Amino acid sequence: SRTIDLAVIPGDGIGPEVVAEGLKVLTAVLPPDVKLKTTEYDLGADRWHRTGETLPDEELESLKRHDAILLGAIGHPSVPSGVLERGLLLKLRFAFDHYVNLRPSRLLTAAASPLAGSREIDFVVVREGTEGPYTGNGGSLRTGTRHEIATEVSVNTEYGVERAVRDAYERAMSRPRRKLTLVHKNNVLVHAGRLWTEVFARVAEEYPDVSTDYLHVDAATIFLVTQPERFDVIVTDNLFGDILTDLAAAVSGGIGLAASGNINPARDFPSMFEPVHGSAPDIAGTGRADPTATCLSVALLLRHLGFEDEAARVEDAVAEDLAERETAQARSTEETGDAIAARAAGSARRDAARTA
Ligand code: IPM
Ligand code: MN
Repeated sequence: SRTIDLAVIPGDGIGPEVVAEGLKVLTAVLPPDVKLKTTEYDLGADRWHRTGETLPDEELESLKRHDAILLGAIGHPSVPSGVLERGLLLKLRFAFDHYVNLRPSRLLTAAASPLAGSREIDFVVVREGTEGPYTGNGGSLRTGTRHEIATEVSVNTEYGVERAVRDAYERAMSRPRRKLTLVHKNNVLVHAGRLWTEVFARVAEEYPDVSTDYLHVDAATIFLVTQPERFDVIVTDNLFGDILTDLAAAVSGGIGLAASGNINPARDFPSMFEPVHGSAPDIAGTGRADPTATCLSVALLLRHLGFEDEAARVEDAVAEDLAERETAQARSTEETGDAIAARAAGSARRDAARTA
């Protein structure tokens, strides 16, 4: 028998509510001989208010020892902007070298998209996760006058760009359409843009079966809305990826459905799975948060740990649930979690019966 040793960071706002449902679904779908051991970490706004700490070294060390991390959401209006984002969320992504921020978009039911007409949306964004403008390089020259100067330096290393790009080619190879689009802004950001473009072209030679394409990020936003079906795998830098994946979420069912994995493909450190959405303090405690993005993040977690069938079951359960939801009354966080868990568990039993 096997044990999954999972670290859980419920975090702020709706984080704890959606994580509870994600864990419910995870438990429902695991094979009987696999045990789930969870360790909850008290990190986020409350902790910061109590102790002034965001992520102490001992906890970072202890997080390192788990198989994976499930995170709800980080950030609260009562904490100055950036404190928790940098001191906790980005610290984890950087410390655990989550260089692939994987963000799939699939339109599971046509009615979920605000776009007109029936659409085929099934693409995945490989957002580089450890570099770009997120490194914190830069500063401000506070002159005490109205002439302050602030810079944010986008850091792009050949090593960092290449490993993200390679991962994207590998993912493109594993998908039927085998298409990879680089998104950047190499007509303006000529230094980083050249590096990305050159690395992208060089690695392409090793993947003759992958058809490649380049789009400037502004044009990519147009196509994400007018022709989302043209995308298969997208690779892009950390900030463009952040922005594009919110847009991708909006066109493929809303931010309530968008899942992500902060992945360390080399497996030097635990990967971390979280919904793309934030802590939504405005609806925290109302039971209205949609836990679906967290459930789909659990599917990514399962796939990362080698539970492909179980991952697919969660995704199927979500798709079935969404189809039904079109006709259902508005449900609570818990009701949605229960519905997905029940479907996922039901299909687990059907699969077991089929193989028995
Ligand atoms: C996300 C979030 C984070 C990001 C913030 C909270 C630091 O927007 O996961 O997309 O910018 O990466
Ligand atoms: Mn974001």
